[in-house]
Amino acid sequence: MAIFADMIQTVAIAGAGTMGSGIALSAALAGYQVILLDTWEGALDKACSSIQQNLRTMVQKGKLAEDELPTVWERIQTSADPEACVADLIIEAIVEKLEAKTALLLRLAAVNTPHCIIASNTSSLSITDIQTNLPQPHRVAGLHYFNPAHIMKLVEVIRGKHTHEDTIQQLVHFSKQLGKTPVVCTDAPGFIVNRVARHFYLESMKAVENGTATVEQIDAIMEATGFKMGPFKLMDMIGMDINLAVSQSLYEAFGHEERFRPSDLQVQKVQQGALGKKTGKGFYQYD
Ligand SMILES: NC(=O)c1ccc[n+]([C@@H]2O[C@H](COP(=O)([O-])OP(=O)(O)OC[C@H]3O[C@@H](n4cnc5c(N)ncnc54)[C@H](O)[C@@H]3O)[C@@H](O)[C@H]2O)c1
Repeated sequence: MAIFADMIQTVAIAGAGTMGSGIALSAALAGYQVILLDTWEGALDKACSSIQQNLRTMVQKGKLAEDELPTVWERIQTSADPEACVADLIIEAIVEKLEAKTALLLRLAAVNTPHCIIASNTSSLSITDIQTNLPQPHRVAGLHYFNPAHIMKLVEVIRGKHTHEDTIQQLVHFSKQLGKTPVVCTDAPGFIVNRVARHFYLESMKAVENGTATVEQIDAIMEATGFKMGPFKLMDMIGMDINLAVSQSLYEAFGHEERFRPSDLQVQKVQQGALGKKTGKGFYQYD
């Protein structure tokens, strides 16, 4: 494993939204130089505030020494220019659309060396589809974090059809450097967690739609049974647009099987712009 120790020093994270900001913080805490890219300036400002807030919380909870805070913070640079994202590892965390991911990753591949590893944080798109369009497909894999990315330990490392074993091992090593627990998965729809958890969300929404129970009742019951968060609180944290995109992706991948059919409730929420915490309103209201 020691041979991988110095291969990744700079990490570029594309997309400074819910996941990108947490992934950036996680990498900076582990000592990596980070470039956080977003083409929307407002996202970079929001990400910086959220990272600073999370760092202050860590200090208050005694998880980070106060004098280390500036050092961690200074490891994170921001950029709105993909051409400035020269790194050893790129972690893509933009909108859940194959065309958008491919277009950005082609631009990033063009300014990086063939040794650069490209990892996608996609929740449900095929890694094989993503890597097929890129110049070094064997250097491309999935690296699927969970929300909040600086706290959750699990990371799925996804092997696409063309991913080289060396790429997988470097991502496993990198994940361990971050204090994560990497699990290597095959490139199947929803990988492991999003496939299994789909019914946690979909069945809960269907129960609300047909009047079996309310949002609040289901969350309270699931939390009382031991889940840290009920499905509706969790969907608000994930983002309704992302959750719907994952439902749609699995529904397609499983040949429109009824059990994966997206709920009308989540479609309505997205149409209303009630995307959850990030817009201040989802199933619940946030200040
Ligand atoms: N939200 C979750 O709980 C969660 C968990 C695991 C994985 N994911 C995956 O992570 C990815 C990002 O999800 P998110 O919840 O952080 O989304 P988000 O909507 O919070 O953030 C996406 C960010 O990407 C930026 N962006 C869009 N197109 C861009 C481009 N071409 N170049 C640079 N930046 C661009 C947007 O401005 C936005 O700030 C998705 O693929 C999603 O499936 C999400």
